[in-house]
Amino acid sequence: MSPATSSPVIRRLRDGGTATIRNAAPTPNDPRTAAREAFRSVRAETERRAAALSDEDQVVQSMADASPTKWHRAHTTWFFEQFLLQPQLAGYRPYDEQFAYLFNSYYVAAGPRHARPKRGLVTRPDCARVAAYRAHVDEAVERLLASAEEGQLPEVLRILEIGLNHEQQHQELILTDILHAFAQNPLAPTYDAAWQPPQPLASARGFSELPSGLHPIGHCGGGYSFDNESPVHQVYLMPARIARGLVSNAQWLDFMADGGYATPALWLSDGWATVEAEGWRAPAYWRKHDDAWHALTLGGLKPVDQAAPVTHVSYYEADAFARWAGKGLPSEAEWEVAARLDLIDDAFGIVWQWTRSAYSPYPGYRAQAGALGEYNGKFMVNQMVLRGSSHATPAGHSRASYRNFFYPSARWQFSGLRLLDSGG
Ligand SMILES: [Fe+2]
Repeated sequence: MSPATSSPVIRRLRDGGTATIRNAAPTPNDPRTAAREAFRSVRAETERRAAALSDEDQVVQSMADASPTKWHRAHTTWFFEQFLLQPQLAGYRPYDEQFAYLFNSYYVAAGPRHARPKRGLVTRPDCARVAAYRAHVDEAVERLLASAEEGQLPEVLRILEIGLNHEQQHQELILTDILHAFAQNPLAPTYDAAWQPPQPLASARGFSELPSGLHPIGHCGGGYSFDNESPVHQVYLMPARIARGLVSNAQWLDFMADGGYATPALWLSDGWATVEAEGWRAPAYWRKHDDAWHALTLGGLKPVDQAAPVTHVSYYEADAFARWAGKGLPSEAEWEVAARLDLIDDAFGIVWQWTRSAYSPYPGYRAQAGALGEYNGKFMVNQMVLRGSSHATPAGHSRASYRNFFYPSARWQFSGLRLLDSGG
């Protein structure tokens, strides 16, 4: 999760804003005020997501890949303390000198850190102390915004913007991680009783012709982006058709009924080994009750909605499904070109979509120097790219060039797929 190809907050505001800024309406013209409002909005959204959870909920860590809610709240706060306040606010002293060790995630250049799989064992500081930590840092950030010299302000705003987009990424993880934790509980707890599954567009049917030839992909200005979305470069697309809609649960049930999880020929070798090792027979969080499939959702245990897009499937499963369907998965370039040309529906806000693209640097990519250069670049191996966004993605944090990435066996994110027909 990456540093920005910096676009100053002020310009974004004049251009109509981005993800982060759009949350803070109305949009003031003064960059300090605009940044303060954006900061307050994002910080409040994190607390809103955590507010549905008890202190006990917020401590649990259900697997090494997931983190406790309390940790997310503290880590996003440490990020501002480490990368914004300490370098920029004269005389700033950390709230607690020990917190850097507890709440640094993976920034080797920022110092030693607690073992990731053991985050759930940290019962102290408790939630109240983490709330106080957040308030302390919030006050200091606002003081910095008000007092920064004019010459210092662009760098303050640049780092603040990274911090806000970073926190938005953790807002999504708060939901995916607590759902994984709740899935370990035989009582199948509900995060939000009012939660409703996002509905696909009814007209999202059939396939769109992708125009073959050269096309630009990558972030081309007009808002925030992470560094992994750059540089813009040309890609060559072969003739293909891309599905307008997402693969549905009904289609997934057909795959299961046809022996999809029991047919090795459909699977990549690593995928089949994972199916056998993990005993996968359905998407994550699916359970059979009274002979009917149910799924644990943020709204609790619900009968599987056949019309809804399938979610919580791994890359291995998406790939096997596509092979079973006689199709393939789009590359990330095919996906981005299709999204820009409005050739696909439900691109954003429902489920992330696996692509067949390995996560690697774009031609000419260079990570920035220093600890923030660790945000994205060092993860560019052994993971697969997902495109779009999910219903857990914070408002405004979606764009056509966004590159999400996870290991091919991961399925605790809201991950689904759309198909590609290469005609072969
Ligand atoms: Fe982080």
